Order: sequence, then C-alpha cells, then structure tokens
Amino acid sequence: MSSTAQQDMNKRELLEKKIQESLIGGGEDRIKSQHSKGKLTARERIHFLLDDNSFNEIGAFVLHRSNDFGMEKQRFLGDGVVTGFGTINGRLVYVFSQDFTVFGGSLSETHAEKICKIMDLALENGAPVIGLNDSGGARIQEGVVSLGGYADIFYRNTIASGVIPQISAIMGPCAGGAVYSPAITDFIAMVENTSYMFVTGPNVVKTVTNEEVTSEQLGGASVHSTKSGVAHFAFANEIECLNGIKSMLSYMPQNCEEKAMALPYTTQDETRDVLKNIIPENANQPYDMREVIEGIVDDNSFYEVHKNFAENIVVGFARLAGRSIGIVANNPASLAGVLDVDSSTKGARFVRFCDAFNIPLLVLEDVPGFLPGTDQEWNAIITNGAKLLYAFSEATVPRITVITRKAYGGAYDVMNSKHIGADMNFAWPNAEIAVMGAKGAAEIVFKKDITTASNPEQAWKEKEAEYAEIFANPYRAAERGFIDEVIFPENTRTKLITAFKMLENKVKNLPRKKHGNIPL
Ligand code: HXC
Repeated sequence: MSSTAQQDMNKRELLEKKIQESLIGGGEDRIKSQHSKGKLTARERIHFLLDDNSFNEIGAFVLHRSNDFGMEKQRFLGDGVVTGFGTINGRLVYVFSQDFTVFGGSLSETHAEKICKIMDLALENGAPVIGLNDSGGARIQEGVVSLGGYADIFYRNTIASGVIPQISAIMGPCAGGAVYSPAITDFIAMVENTSYMFVTGPNVVKTVTNEEVTSEQLGGASVHSTKSGVAHFAFANEIECLNGIKSMLSYMPQNCEEKAMALPYTTQDETRDVLKNIIPENANQPYDMREVIEGIVDDNSFYEVHKNFAENIVVGFARLAGRSIGIVANNPASLAGVLDVDSSTKGARFVRFCDAFNIPLLVLEDVPGFLPGTDQEWNAIITNGAKLLYAFSEATVPRITVITRKAYGGAYDVMNSKHIGADMNFAWPNAEIAVMGAKGAAEIVFKKDITTASNPEQAWKEKEAEYAEIFANPYRAAERGFIDEVIFPENTRTKLITAFKMLENKVKNLPRKKHGNIPL
C-alpha cells in the first residue's frame, strides 16, 4: 500500500472512530441510565421525531474548552447536545436535543454555540426550530461563559419570534434561567412524571419560604399544563410528545412569509345536522363548545392547545376544507364561558401566534361577560382582558366570528367583533347580543317600575320578557350590520368554508410603527 493510501486509510479509521464515539455519547452505561429513568436518549428522540434517515448532524465533534476543575480530562464529542437539521413529513426543521448523560445536559459555552448555530440557520432559511430540553442548566464549572451562552440563545429566541415557529419539548429537568428559552418559544410540551421546569428548585424554595414541595409538585407537567399555563401540552410519554409536535407542525407554515400547507379537499354537501340541537333550550344550561367545533371542522382535525388550562376558553388548530385555521371559542361548559385573567391571556397568545403565521382565525362565541370579583380585579383583569382585545384588534389574518348564543357586554366587543376588525360575523338564530342578560338588565333599568308595582315579582318578569323580546336575539345587531348574516347552525360549515375562501387573499396593513405596546 502506498503511503498516501495508508494515510487515507488512517484518516478514514479516525473519522469512523470519532463518529462511533460521538454516537454513543461516551458509553452504553449512559444510555442505560437514561432508559432506566423512563427517558429516551438525545439521539433516540431525534430518531423518533424526524423522517427516517433525514437527520444531518452539525457539530458532532465539538468539544468544550474548559480547563478548570479537571474538566480538561472529561471531554465528550458533541458536548452534551446533538444539533442539526432534517425533515418532518418532508418539511425542513432544525433541531437540538440535549444529552443529559453528558454533564447533566448542562449548557457550556460550546453547547450554546451549537444551539445558536442551528437557530441562525433556521432563521436565515425560514424553517421551524424544535428544542428537546433535558438539562441541569448552566454548566457550573464554566461560570459566566455559560450564562453568556444562555443569553445568546434567549436573544435568538426573541429575534426569531414571529418569524419561524419555535417549539420546545421538556423531557427532563429545565431549571433556573434555562426556563426562559422555552418560555420565549411559541409552544411548550412537557412529559408527565419525567420533566419539570422551575426558576428555583425545591431546596431553594424550602430555604426561602419554608415550603416543602417535590420537583413534580413545583414544576411538573401536570402543574404547568393546568395551573400556571406555562406548558401548552402534557404528554403521557416521550413518544406521544414527539408525535404531538409532528401533528402540531402540520398546521403551521414554515415561516411568517408563507401560508400553512392545505390538504387536498373536494367540497361536497357540507350541511352538518349534528349542529342543530347542540344548544340547550334553557339559555343558562351549559354545553361543551368542543362539540360545536367538532361539528364544524374537518373530521378529527381539531388539535387542542392548552387543553387543561383556563378551560372556559378553548383554543386550537383545525382544518376547514383542508385549510389550516386557528379556533378561539368560549366554552359554556366551564365557568359558563366567562372571560377571566387566564382565559384572556390564553386566548391572546394563541391569536398572536396565528396572526404571526398567517393562520386564519375562527371565533365561536358564547360569553356572558367578564368574571366579577376581587380575585379577578386584583389580578388585573383590566390589563389581561385588554390583551385579548388588543390581540384580536391588531390581527390582520382573515377573521370570522360565529355567535352561537350569548354575546354580552364588553366581551361582545372583545370576542372578534366587527368593530375591532373582524371580516365576517355570523349569528345563530337564538343568539342574544346585549349589554347584559335580560333579568339583570330589567332589574337595573326598570327598578322603579318593579319596586312600585303591586306585584314586583310579576312586574320584574314582564320587564325581563320585554327586554328579552328586544335584545335577546341577533336582529338588532344585524339591522346595524354588526352581524352579517343570521344562519342556521347546520349551515355553519358551508358558510365558513365559503367565507374563508372569499377572504383567502386578504391583505391588510397596519400603520407603520416600530411595534405596538400590548398591555403586558
Ligand atoms: C454541570 C451538572 C449540572 C450542571 C448536573 N450536572 N447539573 N454538571 N453543571 N448544571 C451533572 C452532575 O454533576 C452529574 O454528573 C450529572 O450531571 C447528573 O446529575 P445528577 O445530579 O446525578 O442527576 P439528578 O439526580 O437526576 O439531578 C438532576 C438535577 C441536578 C436536578 C438537574 O443535577 C441539579 O440540581 N443540577 C444543578 C442544577 C442547577 O442549579 N443548575 C444551574 C441553574 S442556574 P456525574 O459526573 O456525577 O454524572 C442556571 C442559570 C441560567 O441555569 C442562566 C440563564 C439566565
């Protein structure tokens, strides 16, 4: 063999050795340690997330540069994070996957650089970034360079916000400042029992407040998907989580310049008799707005976001005649569908995502108003309710509302009324569009008549009926053009398909500004 051929052979062997080393991240025992906790390895997660053989790794041979605390003797190829690009259902995505088996997936200077590199590529090439987080936070041995690395990521998360979809899966610890990268991304998915997120962990909490909590109680998937609303999804296991991300992406475009991909669809008879009898005869009886949604959208296409948080509003993606839409719907099945602090912020955030990524909005409205009480007032229902109002008002995507029953008070204005820029407002025949319910209205407006009547109870009933006769219907609003059409429930799908098609090429530009000042 010539010396050149021998050199080539040596180089090839070295490369193969390095590839092998980088793939196992430092040893089979590390893989086992991950599996023993019910977690997949960083590479397995990428394998299950991306299309077969589509992953291209970037930076597999990167090593950390730290020489303190004996770190120079412990270097693992890739430095605790696998980064690269691939496809999901044939569409380009960038991904990073932290490897807890290498220094607890902690973030070093080089680990951060690898993440930043794929974020920069994603931004420049207009494709989503998916972060699979499993990390003990800043690499303690590196000090400030690690903190700087986090800030480099936060900065990129912010700059990329609204340009490309960013999705975070939390598949292990995500603690300290590390939580702020996922928090800036568009959606957070957590895995039940194996992931947690908190700014300060149980030990610090115990020292400072004397509270005793476990990691799960403090920041597990259940608490963040129900109480805090930090997580949009809680999945039973990692495979479900990765599949969930794939489904979610199918409703989104690659970036803010594109529209979401539409599935082929041939229009047929779109009448849906199932919608005829969903609304109970008694206007105070609850019903689940999800049934209305299912009756309107393409079969099995509703993908609910924030399912167990602020259940009085339902938000999620769906398809209508194959096209992606975002749905925001009051849900009378929970708290009578009132707007409160949590439901307002939940709705507002979803509206802003859809608007940023050209996803038309459908609003289903049955709202008795804002929730009264000191709790709500002291927790700034004024500021938080304004977020939803603001988010709808500034949204330039096609926007349609269907009032299924109640549209009372300020909530009528807020829930995508024509006054704040909705393109079309429909109402079902039994809709009630008024300042408040007839009973309460009668009590205030006709107080004198009622109290001085020989039979006040009877007088109240009569006045209530009088008020209801005038306002507990959609026709006063339709007279003014606030409602474009009163439609039968069973025709809702047909009407919406036609209306969204009519709005397909909508162009609306807001006045030139640096950015608005949403009431945060
Ligand atoms: C370096 C770390 C590490 C870290 C864990 N390891 N976290 N190494 N820097 N931040 C290492 C451990 O030394 C151990 O190494 C291995 O990872 C596994 O850790 P264990 O503790 O054995 O695992 P576990 O019991 O599952 O506990 C996981 C954990 C715990 C809860 C995450 O490791 C932990 O509390 N880590 C520190 C968390 C932290 O305080 N991070 C800094 C937060 S502040 P060996 O060699 O034994 O396997 C922060 C600032 C961000 O992040 C700034 C942005 C603003």
